Amino acid sequence: MGSERNGWIKRLMPTGLLGRSLLILMTPMLLLQIVTVLIFFERHWDTVARQLSRGLAGDVAYVIDYLGQFPDEEHYQWIQHSARGRLQLDLVFEPDEILQEETTEPPFGLVSEELFNALDERLARPFYFNLDLDDRRLEIRVQLKEGVLSIVAPRKRLYNSTTYIFFMWIAGSALILYGVAVIFMRNQVRPIRRLAKAADQFGRGVDVEDFKPEGASEVRMAATSFLSMRDRIGRHLSQRTALLAGVSHDLRTPLTRMKLELAMQQSSPGVDALKQDVVDMERMVDAYLAFARGEEGEKAEPTDIGKLLTDQVGEALRDGQQIDLHIEDNLDMELRPQSMRRCIANIMSNAGRYANNLSVRAGRRGADYEIVFDDDGPGIPADKREEVFKPFFRLEESRNQATGGVGLGMTIARDSARGHGGEVFLEDAPTGGLRVRLILPMGH
Ligand SMILES: Nc1ncnc2c1ncn2[C@@H]1O[C@H](COP(=O)(O)OP(=O)(O)OP(=O)(O)O)[C@@H](O)[C@H]1O
Ligand SMILES: [Mg+2]
Repeated sequence: MGSERNGWIKRLMPTGLLGRSLLILMTPMLLLQIVTVLIFFERHWDTVARQLSRGLAGDVAYVIDYLGQFPDEEHYQWIQHSARGRLQLDLVFEPDEILQEETTEPPFGLVSEELFNALDERLARPFYFNLDLDDRRLEIRVQLKEGVLSIVAPRKRLYNSTTYIFFMWIAGSALILYGVAVIFMRNQVRPIRRLAKAADQFGRGVDVEDFKPEGASEVRMAATSFLSMRDRIGRHLSQRTALLAGVSHDLRTPLTRMKLELAMQQSSPGVDALKQDVVDMERMVDAYLAFARGEEGEKAEPTDIGKLLTDQVGEALRDGQQIDLHIEDNLDMELRPQSMRRCIANIMSNAGRYANNLSVRAGRRGADYEIVFDDDGPGIPADKREEVFKPFFRLEESRNQATGGVGLGMTIARDSARGHGGEVFLEDAPTGGLRVRLILPMGH
């Protein structure tokens, strides 16, 4: 039950930082305003309505007293004149009239209730009132001994407009405040979004251009840490590549020397095997060097993966491979085209080497692009699938040219996929062979 309710609340809550911080800011403000308004209703408005009603009822009672004291025509004229000028009350005396309707119960409303009570208390005579004579005036009729006295007064005497002005001020200032808060919070959230984007780009191997730490000090700290982490990783990677390239390069000289030495030996099974080993080592070193050099300094650029695949498949078809290609979506993303080409070429050349038919499908899967390569070859046993990604690992131990290469293909393919924030998975293909699933995140 409790967790159910929590889930319900959670679903209603905004997930973004902007929404959340606005909520945090505004909830207390709204509560404060509601409390203020409630208190205002309870106390202030009540009091004001009572005072105003008492004032009006007092004036009416006063006028009636006066009229009772000086019932002659001359005084009536004078009282009428004075009431209009001083009290804003229009008096009309209707002699011998009888009050048609009498207000015995106050009509609904705070003001009418207060006015009813005040008149009831002060007049002690039958009366009737209509608060909505027209837009601006109200009417009170009172039964006197000689007839009915009609009193018309401005509504303003009962309704105080500052109440509405007060509400307008509250609502207006709240709106302005919320607007300002939204603008400020947006500016606070933007650097966080930028940082997230930069981190995402870095993860996908896209260069992060013109990214500067900005915003609140914590955000700036995170951004600075991100930048130095990026630099450290970059240095680390290039140092490692340079080191391995250096070692590989330096191995070539002794290898060449060994080759020369072996060439002068008399042929024997041992010497021939050694010769083959040296040839293999040379190929491995060359393959590694070619890869390490190729990785350096390529920049990501907007690339159509569909076109890249079509090109690559075209090339393989020319070499006599059997390939079906289905491209389901428009697959544009920023990537390093040479590196991705090498990745795809390695996967496809494996299928060409170990299988007869290959089917390639490319499309979107959620936030990723997915390229699936299904072949009909022997496949790779599940327990060997991780091994295949190790450099120079081959299921078949021989390294002769006819059956295969040096065993760097899958290593390079995965390296490239990971360099783009993606991954390569090996699975069973429905066609019986190996399924290679290449995943590339689109990024945001
Ligand atoms: N589609 C496939 N079907 C069956 N086995 C495969 C397939 N792809 C790769 N393999 C196995 O995985 C091993 C490693 O593949 P990888 O591409 O890394 O090296 P390689 O093809 O032998 O050499 P290279 O690609 O460097 O020329 C291969 O030797 C092969 O045994
Ligand atoms: Mg290969």
